[in-house]
Amino acid sequence: MGVITSMERVEEGLDFGFDLFWRTCSSEVRWLACSYREGPFHLSYFSSMNIYKVMPNLGNERQMRLWQQGIRKQWSAADIDWKAPRRIVSDKLRDDLARVLTPVLIGEQSALYSVSGLIPVLGHQSQQEAQFYLTTWAVDEARHTELFARFFQRMDREPGSIRRHPSGYLFQSRIVSKDPSEWLAGVLASESMAQVLAQELRDLDLDPVLSEVCAGIIEDEARHLGFNHIYIEDQFRDLYSADEEKADAKADGLRARIEHVLAGVPPIIKEIRTELTAIGMDMEKVQHTLDVVAKERLEKAISGGRKQALAGVSPSGESEAEPV
Ligand SMILES: [Fe+2]
Ligand SMILES: [Fe+2]
Repeated sequence: MGVITSMERVEEGLDFGFDLFWRTCSSEVRWLACSYREGPFHLSYFSSMNIYKVMPNLGNERQMRLWQQGIRKQWSAADIDWKAPRRIVSDKLRDDLARVLTPVLIGEQSALYSVSGLIPVLGHQSQQEAQFYLTTWAVDEARHTELFARFFQRMDREPGSIRRHPSGYLFQSRIVSKDPSEWLAGVLASESMAQVLAQELRDLDLDPVLSEVCAGIIEDEARHLGFNHIYIEDQFRDLYSADEEKADAKADGLRARIEHVLAGVPPIIKEIRTELTAIGMDMEKVQHTLDVVAKERLEKAISGGRKQALAGVSPSGESEAEPV
């Protein structure tokens, strides 16, 4: 038996994919990404993606503007001067900050997972404008993950173990949903948290690199919250236009959802309360965000959609949704 080259393995896979295609395509119209490797229509990829028409709907102007902003405002961790003199010299302060930033790093990684998971769901529902925007959101969360991972290296510290920080993972697991508006209602809690923590860390100005990282993240989070508002508002405009009773029930469902997600936050704070106080974090402000701001954002988005549907009010501008 000869050695199987990687190219042969690829070709085996392609033939298998082609077989599957012919066995299944009669029952459902499927879109296949194809390449002309050795002739016309030779498969390079097989999947059950559903695309209902070739020309995408790109008519949601607010979502399209945010998508353009999302592309134009990209930045890179590689542009930060990681060798800038470190201001935090105390071992104790580094330990405390590492504890505080552990759930933050967990949150960024989880955000990357959940945003990436929602991109195909939106495609499946032919919501291309939202799908476009989420590709930039995923890039943002990947960047945030890289930024905090590199900041741990700068501090010569490791993040805490999962066993010592289980609440961060439990909190994130409350957010994930295959229903985009449910997911976004849960995300309101985590994005509001991310925003207020980044603001606090920037204002504390413990280290020049951390302050620069947080300033960039604040702008990214504002875009995420802006999209969140616009998406939920659009959904409720459509729901209230179609059926007021069903829309009210959906709104109650999202209110319950955000309560459920927010209930996962106090255990995170409890795990790091001592360290938060030690680095000088304003716990009052953080708590206020937990209790009030995230829920206010949800109400604003629901009532915005309701007013558009029932009172003919025009949609809010992006800057009204969230100053970016
Ligand atoms: Fe983030
Ligand atoms: Fe975010």
